[in-house]
Amino acid sequence: MNQDRTQMIREAMPAVVRSCVPGVVPFQDLGLAVTGVREEIDRGVAKVLDSGRYIGGSEVNCFEREFADYCGAGEAVGTGNGYDALVLMLRACGIGAGDDVIVPSNTYIATWLAVSAVGARVLPVEPDAQTLTIDPNRVEAALTRRTRAILAVHLYGRCANMPALREIARRRSLRLLVDAAQAHGIAHELQTDASAFSFYPTKNLGALGDAGAVVTNDAQIADRVRVLANYGSREKYFNEVRGVNSRLDSLQAAILRVKLKYLDRWNARRDEIARRYLRELVDVPNLVLPQASDDRQNTGTYHQTDGSLNTHRSSNTHRSANMVWHIFAVHHPQRERLMKRLAAEGVGTLIHYPQPPHLSEAYQDTGFVRGDFPLAERLADTELSLPLHPHLTEEEVSQVIAVTRQACLQLAPRSSAWTTHTATAGRE
Ligand SMILES: Cc1ncc(COP(=O)(O)O)c(C=O)c1O
Repeated sequence: MNQDRTQMIREAMPAVVRSCVPGVVPFQDLGLAVTGVREEIDRGVAKVLDSGRYIGGSEVNCFEREFADYCGAGEAVGTGNGYDALVLMLRACGIGAGDDVIVPSNTYIATWLAVSAVGARVLPVEPDAQTLTIDPNRVEAALTRRTRAILAVHLYGRCANMPALREIARRRSLRLLVDAAQAHGIAHELQTDASAFSFYPTKNLGALGDAGAVVTNDAQIADRVRVLANYGSREKYFNEVRGVNSRLDSLQAAILRVKLKYLDRWNARRDEIARRYLRELVDVPNLVLPQASDDRQNTGTYHQTDGSLNTHRSSNTHRSANMVWHIFAVHHPQRERLMKRLAAEGVGTLIHYPQPPHLSEAYQDTGFVRGDFPLAERLADTELSLPLHPHLTEEEVSQVIAVTRQACLQLAPRSSAWTTHTATAGRE
């Protein structure tokens, strides 16, 4: 590969960027975020501009209703972003100083930060080595007298083991809350007290800016979130509690209303791509692939036979009960070298996440050290995410597969097979 091309690729990768470079598959391409929906979004935005209503109003009300219906839940309350949704959800459940909250040891740090922000203490629990979601078998042992809630995360789009968590929560009178920032489309809402969503632009349902929501069947939680997110005020200039300003704005709501209609179709396309990766990378040496969901009932059912959109969303029975593909996370013993080789061949990747929260500087004062959560540490040391978004072409998917296979073959050590996190996890 010549110098110019390498330079071009370096500039285009591995960021979340728009790529115009032939032969380059960036990890994410937000320039494509409005593909096929640009005109509808333009119309939605124009409607807001014409209305002169930029905070609240009918776009926000309609989106909240439509997203609640989509989730099969009673209410959705828009927030400024996903982190705020988590904080407001915790506050609305009365969780604060002196309380402990169970969190996964492997998650995006926002989950932990939200618990810390309300003054509660995080109680990290290691994941199940197959699903990478919090392991219910370890939750019970981690509970303290002060534990008030389990905050599960549907990491990478994989639903946590909700029936088992629900049972523990019921027995121990705990709140069961979900960080659903990576799982738009999982039909799990009836099993939780509340879920927090992010509509960060790269999410399966992404706004064109920051946005989030709390979704719940509990009218009291919804009401509290609404009040807390609006300066603690129900009536303008009269404040019941010390709230914050974290509102979903009308422009983002209008954009999300359009994109919500396409979410099932986009999730189905992600599913197709993930299944190709799983099929065609299965025999690649030293590459640990994510576990596929056994819930296959809905695969591909979002496409109408005439190729048009399936915008039917009034019931969630046609959606996956336990998986939507958000991130395609593979694991490899020489992750950095693999990443470099893929970049050199035009394939962008990202690491989700290079550092588990307990080893971050932000949590140094808690006294956690390397070795405290070995599975989370091993996952952080070996994880690499392949491109996975609904606008990837078949050719691009083929390129990712071919380049990944080739790079892994070149990196494979002659002897000593790499022991996977799944293979070794049982010994920890
Ligand atoms: C698991 C998880 N939780 C919380 C968040 C926070 O969402 P936001 O960036 O909208 O604040 C994110 C998004 O990045 C996330 O992936």
